[in-house]
Amino acid sequence: MCKRFDGKVALVTGAASGIGRAAAVQFAAEGANLVICDFNQSGLSETQHLVEEQGVRCLSMIVDVRSQEQVEDCVNGALEKFGVIDILVNNAGTGQFVPFAMMENDEYDRVMDINVRGTFFFSRAVLPSMMDRDYGKIINITSIMGEVAGQGQSIYNTSKGAAKMMTQGIAVDCSGYHINVNAVAPGMVLTGLTQNMLGDEDQLPYFLEKIPQRRIGEPQDIAHAILFLASDSASYIHGETLHVDGGMICTRM
Ligand SMILES: NC(=O)c1ccc[n+]([C@@H]2O[C@H](COP(=O)([O-])OP(=O)(O)OC[C@H]3O[C@@H](n4cnc5c(N)ncnc54)[C@H](O)[C@@H]3O)[C@@H](O)[C@H]2O)c1
Repeated sequence: MCKRFDGKVALVTGAASGIGRAAAVQFAAEGANLVICDFNQSGLSETQHLVEEQGVRCLSMIVDVRSQEQVEDCVNGALEKFGVIDILVNNAGTGQFVPFAMMENDEYDRVMDINVRGTFFFSRAVLPSMMDRDYGKIINITSIMGEVAGQGQSIYNTSKGAAKMMTQGIAVDCSGYHINVNAVAPGMVLTGLTQNMLGDEDQLPYFLEKIPQRRIGEPQDIAHAILFLASDSASYIHGETLHVDGGMICTRM
């Protein structure tokens, strides 16, 4: 049977766990060859195993998205192995739980460098090859917290708001090309990033109350949206941010 991404090549950053892993495995299940990267070696190996179980090819690379050199090596390695990158998912990300007045410079840099600079480095490195082929899909994982502020999350809010606007800016700069640039903004999803908060049974009712669908998201919920935006069914969607949050943003929290 023909699969949606047969023969395509998808590069997923932050693929060692959570949403990135779920997206990589779903792409593989739908026929795509994968380039997966992360700075968590053991998690990445597990993802590679899950991807290869689907019978596709997988290039796995240790990359810190804050390093321009490592990002460019990863993209060049991917192009050498597969010849093309059809889909880029800028998923690697980090959180922040420090009140604004106590925020140290190093923490500011860490959050902004991973969540914004990493997306800049990867998108810039991949785009020339997409433009040469006049084909490509870029999906940035932002957050509803890029549009609504949360306590102790001011710089995370800033970084995800910036990633949302970068999505729109790249979309405009790709005018005239068959390249789609979009974002997926998750709400609350149970992953390593949120385990402390959402894994606490006592706090769960408080969060569920804010979500009209009354359930915490799963990484697969976000992966479904990523694959939709990467598919040719979404070819007229451009510069958009798709909220995948069980309706949470409707309540403005
Ligand atoms: N979980 C949620 O509720 C939620 C909500 C909104 C947005 N998001 C976003 O979804 C994305 C994925 O997060 P997740 O929830 O799956 O968390 P996660 O912690 O499970 O996954 C994030 C991955 O990014 C990797 N990573 C972090 N910094 C890196 C770096 N410098 N270089 C390379 N890899 C790096 C981590 O090792 C990890 O594997 C993030 O961008 C996050 O901000 C998550």
